[in-house]
Amino acid sequence: MDIKEFDEISTREIALAKEEITHVDNRMTLEQFKGKFLGKKSLLTSLYQSMREVPSDQKKDFGLKLTEMKNTLNGLFEEKEEEMKSLELSRKLESEKIDITLPGNHKRIGSKHPFYAIVDEVVDFFVGLGFSVASGPEVESDYNNFEMMNIPKDHPARDMQDSFSIDQSTVLRSHTSCVQARVMKAMAGKGPVKVICPGKVYRRDNDATHSHQFGQIEGLVISEDCTFANLLETLTLLLKHLFGEKREVRFRPSFFPFTEPSVEADIQCFECNGKGCSLCKHTGWIEVLGSGMVHPNVLRLNGYDDKKYKGFAFGIGIDRVAMLKYGIDDIKRFYTNDIDFIEQFRKE
Ligand code: PHE
Repeated sequence: MDIKEFDEISTREIALAKEEITHVDNRMTLEQFKGKFLGKKSLLTSLYQSMREVPSDQKKDFGLKLTEMKNTLNGLFEEKEEEMKSLELSRKLESEKIDITLPGNHKRIGSKHPFYAIVDEVVDFFVGLGFSVASGPEVESDYNNFEMMNIPKDHPARDMQDSFSIDQSTVLRSHTSCVQARVMKAMAGKGPVKVICPGKVYRRDNDATHSHQFGQIEGLVISEDCTFANLLETLTLLLKHLFGEKREVRFRPSFFPFTEPSVEADIQCFECNGKGCSLCKHTGWIEVLGSGMVHPNVLRLNGYDDKKYKGFAFGIGIDRVAMLKYGIDDIKRFYTNDIDFIEQFRKE
């Protein structure tokens, strides 16, 4: 082969490559192009191999021409590869493009259960008055739940709170009053007490306004100079805080074995404003809590000198307050985990 012949072959090969590169439109056809024009079986490679036969005085010219041919073919390949890379990149960018005007993924934020909204409201109120918060177990001794609360074994008042027994000496606590016994014993009969005890309690009850499980908040104050007037004032403040300044509050004499005297507090019915309706059973009043001056027996049983100390206590039903405040018709709604129900109480 002489130089002229080489030029012809090379021109033909380059023309063919230029024509074929226009059809290359993906990675696979690009690889095929590379194999055909630059690979082991390409014309270029066979021309390099035939360099051996070229007379030595022409080797340099051949060599330069071959390099030129290789650079041209390689240039075609590289140019296409670049083009393809930038095309791929722009496709990728296009597919990953984020439209910041689209609405984001809305995160659902939980809302406070109406039961705990009342607990927080009552606890905050009392913490503001300098009370501390105490708690006790839900599985309680018969002793703390009844006996220390002045309700001995055969006392008819046990029927007031039909309770669940675990065994002879253990019950599911039927009221939070048993925390009074724990607090008084922890104080070893010394010094004043001002506590609030929120918690769950259990009774054998089941209708629209009663559930076997419900919540109570117990309050206990013991001091040397505590009076019945203090009790009335504290509870009036609480009820006005919960149900509104204008709502009237009244106290009625009542009976609890652990308090003497005992009173129940009513608020003016907010459905009929005291005129009488089905919610207030046509009395104009709704009963909301039980309270009284701590019975001297309870003080004594729990280690306090009843000549020196006096106290008052009260118990308020959490579910009952929430039902009244939010107009909820069935106590079971608090325990069914119905998100649509709970969400209604969201405070934005
Ligand atoms: N423990 C009483 C009840 O569950 C409520 C109460 C508490 C009454 C404290 C008086 C004093 O009905």
